[in-house]
Amino acid sequence: MLVTVKILRYNPEKDAQPSYQTFQVEAEETDRVLDLLEKIKGEQDGSLSFRRSCGHGICGSDAMRINGMNRLACKTLVRDVGDQITVEPLLGLPKIKDLIVDMKPFFDHYRRVMPYFISDLPVPEDGRERLQSPEERLRFDDTTKCILCACCTTSCPSFWANDQYYGPAAIVNAHRFIFDSRDTATAERLQILAEEMGVWRCRTAFNCTEACPREIQITKAIAEVKQAILSGKV
Ligand code: SF4
Ligand code: F3S
Ligand code: FES
Repeated sequence: MLVTVKILRYNPEKDAQPSYQTFQVEAEETDRVLDLLEKIKGEQDGSLSFRRSCGHGICGSDAMRINGMNRLACKTLVRDVGDQITVEPLLGLPKIKDLIVDMKPFFDHYRRVMPYFISDLPVPEDGRERLQSPEERLRFDDTTKCILCACCTTSCPSFWANDQYYGPAAIVNAHRFIFDSRDTATAERLQILAEEMGVWRCRTAFNCTEACPREIQITKAIAEVKQAILSGKV
């Protein structure tokens, strides 16, 4: 089938504003949008710029807007989006070139919530790992699945309105440690998320949950963090 791919292009060295360019590509309905972009880059315009690495939904590097929705290009099949495809960079982050955005603000928010294990308890004497029951592990299982693709944060209207909002991805990654029975920095993380740019900026829009390629229940995780703050764990 012949697919029309309309791409929002931007070269900061030449263009004052981004503008659309349209390409025609021969494709199978089982091709991924990433395959189409590779084809365009390889056969029609080598200057087309986009990020990708694993090609299998693991690295999170090829998040982009496809027909108006944030998706991973490597997980989106032509048959799911049709033969008229519009591809744009993620919203809310500075454009670098074509489909590449500057992820630094996103990762700054991520770092803010201390997304790593913290414990002030002594290392177990036998030198083995800190134990946890299956139920305790299950408590934060969903939020361990994040691949930091930014689909959620860049689809959030509260983030579009104020890019200082830490955003759903940062909260998901805080949740992963807040509800980990082995971690002892819960109060500190909740304190950070209770700040002006923390969880209260979330207006329960649900865009984040709809956009997540890992199907993480993001809005639910945010609600759990809000509840933890309200219940005085801070
Ligand atoms: Fe991507 Fe989902 Fe993680 Fe958000 S929570 S960064 S959408 S994997
Ligand atoms: Fe934004 Fe998700 Fe809340 S889209 S407003 S973080 S529910
Ligand atoms: Fe790694 Fe798509 S290329 S997630």
